[in-house]
Amino acid sequence: AKRIAVFASGQGSNFQAIADAVREGKLDVSIELLVCDKPSAPVVERAKHAGVDAFVFKPKDYPSREAYETEIAEELRKRQVDLIVLAGYMRILTPTLVEPYYGRMINIHPSLLPSFPGINAIGQALEHGVKVTGVTVHFVDGGLDSGPIIAQTAVPLYEEDTEASLAKRIHEAEQKLYPYVIGLIAQEKVAIEGRKVIVKP
Ligand code: GAR
Repeated sequence: AKRIAVFASGQGSNFQAIADAVREGKLDVSIELLVCDKPSAPVVERAKHAGVDAFVFKPKDYPSREAYETEIAEELRKRQVDLIVLAGYMRILTPTLVEPYYGRMINIHPSLLPSFPGINAIGQALEHGVKVTGVTVHFVDGGLDSGPIIAQTAVPLYEEDTEASLAKRIHEAEQKLYPYVIGLIAQEKVAIEGRKVIVKP
């Protein structure tokens, strides 16, 4: 089975969905590590509960992003991680991690990219007044939410929506899409061809 590391900064509902899919035998990967930049984040407790090792750090304890990413890279190497799964990891990555893992690092973003990259994509969609938004899973490249798109789910937006009601609908879509896409990658069904991603039957 593929060995994955999940990077997260917050609630960890996506981490939980992935861990549950693995536990239920629906997803054939092994979660080797949680990487978290916020010691107080609920995701840390979720990892403990799931029996997943965690590398938890405070960015302020390091002189640069490259310094903590070098340490993360060492943790990944020790555990022979072959896929990095970003799940609400709210930090920009540098080439220290992005370059060696290009094609082996994916991210989930709560909009239909290329609409609403960056922070608060759900609020951006509400503010803009779009009628359809959604969820994107993509490979990570050097840009902001800019890498080749693997899969998307559309999510409708209703007039009565608040940020909370829309977020709930988006998170439900994420928790289905992410384990599914990780499964496709685990089965080696996903290939990058330039800007495009081909999913084999
Ligand atoms: C998710 O909605 C994810 O798409 C988003 O953070 C949330 C994390 O939730 N990521 C981004 O906005 C990245 N730019 P979770 O901690 O419950 O999985």
